[in-house]
Amino acid sequence: MRFDLLTLFPEIFAGFLGQSLLKKAIDRGLIRVHVHDMRDWSRDKHQKVDDRPYGGGPGMVLRVEPVVECAEDVQLQGAERGHVVLLSPQGRRLTQAIVEELACHRRLILLCGRYEGFDQRVVELLRPDEVSVGDYVLNGGEVAAMVVIDAVMRLVPGVLGDENSHRDDSFSSGGRLLEFAQYTRPREYRGLHVPDILLSGDHEEIARWRGEQSYCKTRERRSDLLPGASAGDLDREETDNTKRPADG
Ligand code: ADE
Repeated sequence: MRFDLLTLFPEIFAGFLGQSLLKKAIDRGLIRVHVHDMRDWSRDKHQKVDDRPYGGGPGMVLRVEPVVECAEDVQLQGAERGHVVLLSPQGRRLTQAIVEELACHRRLILLCGRYEGFDQRVVELLRPDEVSVGDYVLNGGEVAAMVVIDAVMRLVPGVLGDENSHRDDSFSSGGRLLEFAQYTRPREYRGLHVPDILLSGDHEEIARWRGEQSYCKTRERRSDLLPGASAGDLDREETDNTKRPADG
């Protein structure tokens, strides 16, 4: 799978690409990541890519020409043009289902905005899939792009050591329960003990206990994920959460 990152701050990705599972996947040739500095497509001698918004208002807007021309050139660099994703708080909110959908593409081109966002004609010309990583505003799309890569790469065959290990994840389409609690050594720490059932060796009982744990945790924290929950449950829950501090 290939990712192309279009950004004004390529250095942000250095640590991310040089570490851990992603680095291993890159070294093994399972994933390729190319970072492109949109300033290289600026026609301005100072490599300026932003400008003041028409109609006035605070902040700066990313100009249409460097962004569109960068994206078009980058699309031509690969065997296939790729699926263009624009990271924006106005996009559809990322879920595991969307991650699974994105993982079906062999190439993703991730557009990272800054400042007050892109000139609207970027959207009209590139017709990107606009994706948000949550209902909050980041300083730019770079961190959001890392979230997308991190979640998508886990689904690329061969990236995780054990082919099945993502199947049991919370939110994978096979199951939508939160994960049960995990323990490792020592058996006791500061008076806190590993539950006896996990030391019993009875795998059937352990699986049942874990299932119960998952179900109860989900009911307690994210009842909107349970079968039969409607979209409104999440909204109600979010409203309830915002009330909680004042209640206490
Ligand atoms: N850029 C700024 N905020 C963002 C968000 N919440 N999701 C995706 N991109 C963003």
